[in-house]
Amino acid sequence: MRILSGIKPTGTLTLGNYIGAIKNFVKLQEEYKDAEVLVFIADLHALTTPQDKQELRNRKKEIAGMYLACGLDKEKTILFNQSEVKEHLELGYIMECTSYIGEMERMTQYKDKKLKQTAGIKTSLLTYPALMAADILLYDASLVPIGDDQKQHLELTRNLAVRFNNEYGETFTVPEGFTPKVGKRIMGLQDPTKKMSKSDEGNPKNYISLFDNPSEARNKIKSAVTDSLTNIKYDAKEKPGISNLLNIYSALTDTSISQIEKKYANSNYMEFKNDLGEIVFNFLSDLQNKYNNIISSGILGSVLDKGAAYASMLAKRKIEKVYKKVGLNR
Ligand code: TYM
Repeated sequence: MRILSGIKPTGTLTLGNYIGAIKNFVKLQEEYKDAEVLVFIADLHALTTPQDKQELRNRKKEIAGMYLACGLDKEKTILFNQSEVKEHLELGYIMECTSYIGEMERMTQYKDKKLKQTAGIKTSLLTYPALMAADILLYDASLVPIGDDQKQHLELTRNLAVRFNNEYGETFTVPEGFTPKVGKRIMGLQDPTKKMSKSDEGNPKNYISLFDNPSEARNKIKSAVTDSLTNIKYDAKEKPGISNLLNIYSALTDTSISQIEKKYANSNYMEFKNDLGEIVFNFLSDLQNKYNNIISSGILGSVLDKGAAYASMLAKRKIEKVYKKVGLNR
């Protein structure tokens, strides 16, 4: 069995990325001891919007280091940069030949992102989901841990796998998405009706970066927007701010929402926010310590080399089979 997921190196890594995705890679790795866990840095995907090349290199390193700092087993995890395994591009093209433009145009992320492109919309922004499907199908991954916003892309991946299998015979495993019960969509701290986003750099109080100074992050929690009611009760519709904070609390402490509600039944928002501020402070301090140790140990290069070599070996085998199926062999 293979578990696979990726993160795009654009913007800074946020608490949303951690709770919605990375935390679950780690959990699933512990749960499925025999599974192969492939995690990659989706650097090709980053190029679908304009990037500064030095910043891109830095962010790639940050993500690789954070994956390990968050608890992925460095001996067992197959960690690699997407662009170092060329077969992603080859299968990406095959997926473009399996999908229809209409399907791509219907993707909500595409519709949202295209509105933000001031210098023109890159063709690859539209075809992005074909490459993402390739990322997954190349390794016959059966479980893909993702946050809520990637569910539509995963659904498309499943459709493409089924379509290809029907046309050319059984080739790809049809993957299942895995989204956490709590925290599949962490919202902005200043605007809890929109998801916390790593590209939201104009408004740093709206998100917590995994690289934030822990005291600053504590303050961001304290100044998070909540409603004018007083009881600490989960109600995502009527009380999106406090519900978002409850999700964060629950995910970082592995406590159920109802237990937290009970604990704070007689407390006000300030007391709750103070405690959550401490939890976030401690979480980030510990995480950044681990991150700094990983970076200074210098192991990242060899982990990425080993990961790319292993992933390439799997990917080569698969693309050969696919080329045969569609008639690209001699
Ligand atoms: P990306 O880089 O935007 O996000 C990485 C992961 O973090 C999750 N996430 C969130 N979860 C909860 N709350 C939030 N506020 C939040 N923000 C982000 C995302 O759902 C995602 O799981 N296309 C992907 C990268 C990718 C990929 C793949 C993932 C490329 N190929 C193959 C899985 C499998 C992306 O841009 O994620």
